[in-house]
Amino acid sequence: MEKLAPGDEDLIRVAALARQRAYAPYSKYKVGAAIRTKRNKIYSGANVENASYGLTVCAERCAVWAAVAAGETKDYDAIAIVIDDDKLPTPCGACRQVIAEFAPDLRVVLATTAGMRKATTLTALLPEPFLPGNLV
Ligand code: THU
Repeated sequence: MEKLAPGDEDLIRVAALARQRAYAPYSKYKVGAAIRTKRNKIYSGANVENASYGLTVCAERCAVWAAVAAGETKDYDAIAIVIDDDKLPTPCGACRQVIAEFAPDLRVVLATTAGMRKATTLTALLPEPFLPGNLV
């Protein structure tokens, strides 16, 4: 298992703040995410649900899109994902694939508001992403 790194708690704090802005009136399941670049820029996101349900977007993808829209497409260091539950979160398959586009070996820090923590990697979560160059 990966170790937590210095700075992870800061990233978790930003993700927890973003979580408070989640728009989740249907599931009531609020998720926050924050992604940090190696140059220490942090971009956050929260899940945004929709009455049509299927148009809902997860917190992780919101964070990635905020970063990319700000001009950051490479050199990511870590993403933190926070929920308020008695179990740790784990990113959905769609988010894993979207993260892999920009950071296939990203560190992933899973956290709860109550203080549970786990560090892993995108490689562990999605060992064979669909990427140019990965075709078999
Ligand atoms: N959700 C996330 O934001 N991230 C995840 O990793 C899993 C699920 C959101 C989508 C939806 O708004 C709610 O959580 C319930 O699935």
